[in-house]
Amino acid sequence: MQERMSNTCDVVVLLSGSGSNLQALIDSTRTGDSPVRIAAVISNRADAYGLQRARDAGIDTRTLDHKAFEGREAFDAALIELIDAFNPKLVVLAGFMRILSAGFVRHYQGRLLNIHPSLLPKYKGLHTHQRALEAGDTEHGCSVHFVTEELDGGPLVVQSVIPVELQDSPQSLAQRVHVQEHLIYPMAVRWFAEDRLLLGEQGALLDGQLLAASGHLIRP
Ligand code: GAR
Repeated sequence: MQERMSNTCDVVVLLSGSGSNLQALIDSTRTGDSPVRIAAVISNRADAYGLQRARDAGIDTRTLDHKAFEGREAFDAALIELIDAFNPKLVVLAGFMRILSAGFVRHYQGRLLNIHPSLLPKYKGLHTHQRALEAGDTEHGCSVHFVTEELDGGPLVVQSVIPVELQDSPQSLAQRVHVQEHLIYPMAVRWFAEDRLLLGEQGALLDGQLLAASGHLIRP
């Protein structure tokens, strides 16, 4: 079990799949000086490998099967109840493949982060790597953003931009983008945990400064 420290930021992570971003977050909390404590990992799929990663790290897990609910609102209401039992300061979406209701998003306004495998606002939704290749883009990447009611549309916090190589396939591109996801998500979560990052009326603020529309840009 991870120990609770006085100035820790409790985080609940939601996921549906492999959980490599969860793993990057877990690894980042093992540095000793991390203010982040992952209080629980919740999945809508019992077979998500991310749940196993959490169990291996001694983190509480819960499964809430969306198919057991009649409609999005009912599922989201039960999900809110489950999350709030852990009293998190921040909720992190790490490959949680569900569209969230407006009520859910409003409930966690300013404390709900998502990672998306494209340079938003480009390629909201699915198949982002394929779409970047088809468009002939020379650059691609990933974005962390605050979640608002607009799907994949909330204020950007940080983006990592990588070049697209001539020989890239959707798989090779996904692999290199994933490496960047694993760098920028723990970074953004830590900023939030340290009270350096917040959602203001005009957008995301880092250290009191309004971030550019693209968020903080990284070009590794
Ligand atoms: C990540 O690539 C993440 O950006 C994406 O799902 C993957 C989850 O991978 N999220 C979205 O597409 C959300 N719209 P992981 O389970 O290995 O962290």
